[in-house]
Amino acid sequence: MPEYVEFQLEGKCVRLPIIEGTAGEKAIDISTLREQTGYITLDSGYGNTGSCESDITFIDGEQGILRYRGIPIEELAEKSSFVETAYLLMFGHLPTGTELHQFSKLLTENELIHEDMKYHFEGFPSNAHPMAILSSMINASGCFQPQMLAAHSRRTFDLHAARLVSQVRTIAAFAYRKSHGLPIIYPKPIYKYSANFLHMMFSEPYCDYELKPEVVRALDLIFILHADHEQNCSTSTVRMVASSRASLFAGAAAGVCALWGPLHGGANQAVLEMLKKIYEDGDDGTKFIAAAKDKKSKNRLMGFGHRVYKNYDPRARIIKQRCHELLDALKIDDPLLEIALNLEKAALTDPYFVERKLYPNVDFYSGIIMQAIGIPVEMFTVIFAIGRMPGWIANYRETIEDRNSRIYRPRQIYQGSPLRHYVPIADRETK
Ligand code: SDX
Repeated sequence: MPEYVEFQLEGKCVRLPIIEGTAGEKAIDISTLREQTGYITLDSGYGNTGSCESDITFIDGEQGILRYRGIPIEELAEKSSFVETAYLLMFGHLPTGTELHQFSKLLTENELIHEDMKYHFEGFPSNAHPMAILSSMINASGCFQPQMLAAHSRRTFDLHAARLVSQVRTIAAFAYRKSHGLPIIYPKPIYKYSANFLHMMFSEPYCDYELKPEVVRALDLIFILHADHEQNCSTSTVRMVASSRASLFAGAAAGVCALWGPLHGGANQAVLEMLKKIYEDGDDGTKFIAAAKDKKSKNRLMGFGHRVYKNYDPRARIIKQRCHELLDALKIDDPLLEIALNLEKAALTDPYFVERKLYPNVDFYSGIIMQAIGIPVEMFTVIFAIGRMPGWIANYRETIEDRNSRIYRPRQIYQGSPLRHYVPIADRETK
């Protein structure tokens, strides 16, 4: 591989270094381009632009590979837990028994939010979207523990990270209970991470929710599969916020807002709504696929396509398998799964999708599992946010601990009006 790339620009020889990642990805480092040439690059949507070097997650979109800190997602899905995977992402290695015990203890000690935060939930209308509540309350929780807004130090970071991973679950469950007029259910120290979330979501004051092992495991898997995904839209947002040295809570709240979009994390809710509409229309998917291919229809086959994966999303493959297992175990016959399978089969042989390398992504089947667990559709993206929290925290930390990290401030190419001057209102012709 050459050490640099050289080209002529306006009679000048420009030389830019080439760098290679540990998995063989190559990049032209353009950090001196403007200084050498006065030119910048333009790459709408950053499809060809790396924003950083990172040690956290590796994706190979052509091969359909996803690894957290070098470990394949398939191995973590089969052998790990969400808490252990969260530790791996945030601290860079699989924890020893002692480290895992201490981290779990920290999560338990910090699972309660400040009691006064309860009053904030009263302020939201009952139909407020839980993602709006989640982002607001994450920011609010920083106000109740101002020491968490203090400048970053490695010692305190671990506590802040544990608090956020633990409390995002509590805030989400409280938001759900309040929006359904249900009494808040407090976390129980005897329950592990995912079980405690289900307890806070579905228990009643007079009896605890029955924690079926296959349901707890399915939710833990959903969290593992969503835990990180390199520089996706919401993670890049968190890094953008971290680059200005705003607090971890501000970064996480911003991540929630970016994730909410239907083209990103909001797709899991959009997939379920799409499948339900196809089912209610009595369509076997044929009509919907035709509409998804028609530019004028603005329809998209939600849960399909990906900026990076031009092959099957490895997470979708795992979720699809677990979908069948969970529905069999719970004896649920969900017609939406049948529709999803037919849609996938039709799309994977349709030239429109094949030519554009559009495959099912993580959101295509996740909603069916979440619906089987009993998670209401408006909470699907909140589940995604709970899972993604360790990835956001790991990227936030990497940004602020990177000595070379500068504030993110992209350039632009101006296409607006040339120079013109102020015109007093009396002289402006009426339109
Ligand atoms: C996530 O980045 C991440 O890693 C995200 C994520 C993570 O873990 O953080 O993996 C999570 O966000 C998964 C993606 C969830 N979103 C959806 O399922 C929404 C539906 N998919 C798309 O809207 C789309 O595929 C994106 C947003 C995912 C990717 O968009 P790109 O890379 O900008 O692709 P594009 O819009 O430029 O599409 C390229 C072509 C276009 O057609 P042409 O102009 O070439 O004719 O493919 C078409 C698009 O119209 N296309 C689709 C389609 N996705 C792309 N056509 C129909 N249905 C679709 N789903």
